[in-house]
Amino acid sequence: MSVRKILKMGRQLLLEESEPITEFDTPELHQLIADLWETMKATDGAGLAAPQIGVLKRVVVFGYDKDYHPENMDVVPATVLINPKLTPLTEEFDERWEGCLSIPGMRGAVPRYTKVRIDAYDVTGKPFSCDAEGFHARVAQHECDHLDGILYPMRMLDLDCFGFNDAFEEDDLAEEQQR
Ligand code: NI
Repeated sequence: MSVRKILKMGRQLLLEESEPITEFDTPELHQLIADLWETMKATDGAGLAAPQIGVLKRVVVFGYDKDYHPENMDVVPATVLINPKLTPLTEEFDERWEGCLSIPGMRGAVPRYTKVRIDAYDVTGKPFSCDAEGFHARVAQHECDHLDGILYPMRMLDLDCFGFNDAFEEDDLAEEQQR
């Protein structure tokens, strides 16, 4: 396993469509998944897609552990999705903050379906499906977007809600001090 370099927004490769996996359970696929996990954990992310480490294959990993991030949101089970397909289970959207390891130090408010069905394959090529809601659904949509060359700012409706984390925090602090 190794921690791989994460490509940042601006690299052409992040805008390209990834290729499906056609051979399962290969050493290369196991290695790719191990590298995705290790890179994600080293950078404290909630998910990572193969194109973010320069591999144009339809593979994503995500997971969010409450013990590790006690201040935050729901737990998202550790998941590997290969050749995933997402189907919205509602027409309802909500707009919440997202970050991306390819856009470090920034965040934006992004509309996402609140509930989706996930159909995908595991590392051995076995198909599985599950339903995801809330933050879990959001993370799945964000990561699967990477496989189609879509970064979260492209989904945003209001670019006023896009900026640097430390800048938002300065405003929050100033607001608190005024109270
Ligand atoms: Ni991302």
